[in-house]
Amino acid sequence: MARRRQIYEGKAKILYEGPEPGTLVQYFKDDATAFNAKKKGVIAGKGVINNRISEYLMTRLSEIGIPTHFVRRLNMREQLVREVEIIPVEVVVRNIVAGSLAVRLGMNEGTPLPRSIVEYYYKSDALNDPMITEEHITAFGWATPQDLDDIMSMALRVNDFLSGLFLGVGIRLVDFKLEFGRLWEDDQMRIVLADEISPDCCRLWDMKTNKKLDKDRFRRDLGNVEEAYQEVARRLGILPESGPRDIKGPSVMQ
Ligand code: TMP
Ligand code: ASP
Repeated sequence: MARRRQIYEGKAKILYEGPEPGTLVQYFKDDATAFNAKKKGVIAGKGVINNRISEYLMTRLSEIGIPTHFVRRLNMREQLVREVEIIPVEVVVRNIVAGSLAVRLGMNEGTPLPRSIVEYYYKSDALNDPMITEEHITAFGWATPQDLDDIMSMALRVNDFLSGLFLGVGIRLVDFKLEFGRLWEDDQMRIVLADEISPDCCRLWDMKTNKKLDKDRFRRDLGNVEEAYQEVARRLGILPESGPRDIKGPSVMQ
């Protein structure tokens, strides 16, 4: 079989040329990095679990009308996605104080925020993803004010929906990071949710115990990293061990 052309290699994923024009294959690695890749490691089986979790969450989000790049899962570690032009802005939504917000403002981790906060970071490893404002984004032409309206309203809808979804399985959605891309169809441009949504880019705390079920276990050397990722998949009803066919999670009462 001809070797597929690699388009891009990131810290946790590889993008290959897809089977049709305008598509890519997104391959999920077990590699994990933190603190802008100063800390490196491998979380065994992470790629398989994140592929599943991201498939599940992107599918649920598209069902409520959030456009995404996701097409379908291809196998254990790969999914087919639409090729988009990634907007170089990481959009972070926070519900509870944690991580860099706790450090920056000297607040205690776990303090609930009076309302959800959206932050923007410029996606640049060389610059260590500096925090930016809408002013920088529009002044430098990374997105227009209209694009930003769309991004902000999608990010808040994603937050409301995912907060409820995780609450239903006993998990608090503390914060998360999204990436968006431009999808060109004919001469029309649409902004869609891209990248992945997984415990690599969310903070997920058990509702009862506050146990961390996300990449902070790796960042902070808390141990049982693989088990935490599996626990999230298990609660969503999508553990790969649960069967060879696609399992669509807990069934909804009609
Ligand atoms: P922070 O508290 O370190 O700013 O992270 C906020 C959220 O964004 C957290 O859920 C982890 C996620 N995140 C990423 O996915 N990638 C990154 O490079 C960073 C810094 C954070
Ligand atoms: N993913 C980023 C990195 O490598 C940061 C993080 O998630 O902590 O370094």
